[in-house]
Amino acid sequence: MIPREVARFHEANRQTVLDKALGSHHADLVAVSQGPGIGSMLFPGMAFARKLADKLDVPLIGVNHAVAHFEIGMLTCKAEDPVFLYVSGGNTQILVREEKTRQKSEKRKNPSRSKGNYRVVGETLDIGIGNLLDKSARHLGLGFPGGPALYDLSLKGKKFIELPYNVKGMDVCFSGLYTDFTRKCEKHKPEDMAYSLQETAFDMVLETAERALSHFGKDELLLAGGVACSKILQAKARTMCEERGAKMFVPENAFLTDNGAMIAWNGLLAYQSGTKPLEKEAEPRPHWRADDVDVTW
Ligand code: FE2
Repeated sequence: MIPREVARFHEANRQTVLDKALGSHHADLVAVSQGPGIGSMLFPGMAFARKLADKLDVPLIGVNHAVAHFEIGMLTCKAEDPVFLYVSGGNTQILVREEKTRQKSEKRKNPSRSKGNYRVVGETLDIGIGNLLDKSARHLGLGFPGGPALYDLSLKGKKFIELPYNVKGMDVCFSGLYTDFTRKCEKHKPEDMAYSLQETAFDMVLETAERALSHFGKDELLLAGGVACSKILQAKARTMCEERGAKMFVPENAFLTDNGAMIAWNGLLAYQSGTKPLEKEAEPRPHWRADDVDVTW
């Protein structure tokens, strides 16, 4: 993706999308993805949201994109206290909610959800897993986005080709895996390479997810992010969970890939529990991590 082109695409389409979504409804709150992400895309998004909030004379809430993925998953799957496996183009993280009991705010609506902040307990040390899959699919000439095409191709794979399996404690890294994948593509069938790449990369993230389940004594796993649409990842995660008596939750695809509902829902949760609306001069937070979000809900 070329950031400037994406920004132009957003600019050309945002009003149409907004009109279609709002219809004749009135909005009492505007929520916007404030970060993380690429600054040149976040800036126009925030400016657009600010203009809309001012026009409607309603508050504007800044939402963390990653946390919004988790919260829509919690809402749609009804999980209670899961380990979160966040797998998308730019991100690969394992998270839990902190155990410590935060001071209960009077405004907090749902006491059963009174957990602490999100804590990242494992993550990629280089590229996101979705980035790995897209790059690898492009290398095989499958186009973008690569995940679905790579999946289709991998179903024909029969032979497992060994690739670097890089798990370092609770962290993973994928760039060495990608380099070796491109080398081995010269000698092996594309379908075997697609199959082996997915097996290796998914096993890596699930190993760390399983360790988190065990270490934190949790019995639920919630998948989040676009890569979690993968039926292979879902099947592997389900098997791992079943084998240890845990439950596996996965939202439907529309709530796994980026969606406006997750930003709206997280904005509502935050606003109703006392998160302050954004000041006029608020700026995007391109490097805003999930563990830096002050969870008020
Ligand atoms: Fe996302």
